[in-house]
Amino acid sequence: APGSPAVRPPLGWNSWNTFGCNINEAKIRGAADAMVNSGMRAAGYQYVVVDDCWQATTRDAAGNLRSDPVRFPSGMKALGDYIHSKGLKFGIYQAPREETCAQYFNALGGATGALNHEQQDATTFASWGVDFLKYDWCSPWGTLNDQIAGFTKMRDALRATGRPIVYSINSNSAHSNTGPSYNWSNVADMWRTTEDITDRWSTGCRADCFMGVTEILDVQAPLAAWAGPQHWNDPDMLEVGVRGTFTPTQNRAHFSMWAMMAAPLIAGNDITTMPADVRDVLTNPDVLAVNQDSAGRQARRVRDFGETEVWAKTLADGSGAVALLNRSGSTATVSTTAAEIGMPAAGSYTLADVWTRASRNTAAAISATVPPNGVVMYRVRTGSSTPTTSFGLRGVGSGRCLDVLGGAPTDGA
Ligand code: DGJ
Repeated sequence: APGSPAVRPPLGWNSWNTFGCNINEAKIRGAADAMVNSGMRAAGYQYVVVDDCWQATTRDAAGNLRSDPVRFPSGMKALGDYIHSKGLKFGIYQAPREETCAQYFNALGGATGALNHEQQDATTFASWGVDFLKYDWCSPWGTLNDQIAGFTKMRDALRATGRPIVYSINSNSAHSNTGPSYNWSNVADMWRTTEDITDRWSTGCRADCFMGVTEILDVQAPLAAWAGPQHWNDPDMLEVGVRGTFTPTQNRAHFSMWAMMAAPLIAGNDITTMPADVRDVLTNPDVLAVNQDSAGRQARRVRDFGETEVWAKTLADGSGAVALLNRSGSTATVSTTAAEIGMPAAGSYTLADVWTRASRNTAAAISATVPPNGVVMYRVRTGSSTPTTSFGLRGVGSGRCLDVLGGAPTDGA
């Protein structure tokens, strides 16, 4: 929304996809440590987000939220201070109705949602140093207009605190008539476009309302026009490395496609124990550069051959990024052209493979053999000069960039 600190898609980690309700302050501090030690912070990741289940089951006598006394005995201000001491930013979770999602589904007792406490809770979050709020409808109650009113109320409450806080909402499509049917650009900084992701490559929601990677791509593809600086479509958090379910090829494809879509990249794996190959996916500088491009365009699906697809995006400097996606279980050749992906007419183009770091030149055709459930992703530039092997992230993650989150980006990208 206007005024948002999210001038680029937020980069971070969230506790939910791996830990669910099984969280405590030691685990969150461990994740903050791992953000630094793994190189994620240096790659540009900032937000450490505590999802549902951090709250005590009741408010205090003055109606203030407080943390679960067993799992977060030091309190959320202390946790925020710890996260900030690592050069990171602090994210927290709340819900607009009577109960949080876990309270509603009875995984946890209590009823401490923000209803009729919106300004009080926003003020509490600001006093704890919160930099990011995930606000999760998670209720079968209400119409689209109720949701617009509820989400707008918290937007205004956050603004009234004067603290820059990224505002991330989930309208929960299966529980209402909203989901991807509404453009929340003026209300939130990022909004979920689908039901919850899980560690599956393709279908899922028809069976249990958890969604796979390619199913989410189909929902988000038509929403490209809504995305841009300070207002991002959110296809949900990453399953890269979660439970070790995905192959390295699937991890690269999932991460490439979320980067292409200018999605917030919120890691969901246990980053304290991740293997090197998973870390290398999450920190690939050339893929992150495409995601963090200052123009903030979501890639468009320019070709849909059924099992294979071509997604393309034009970056702020006029270069392109293209993903040749193979959804199927067998190897396939996927082809497009420089013109089809929106590149200006030129005698030749350079294709830099963001995963192999190899470059080659082409007159016009862009084609590759793509492994099953895989992607070949190129940064495309006009001319046949051989570029450096890595385009780099050009300052994202440096102290300089961290300092400018409240305002316009100054890294020149
Ligand atoms: C539903 C959301 O979609 C998830 O990401 C997570 O926040 C859970 N609610 C928490 O209960």
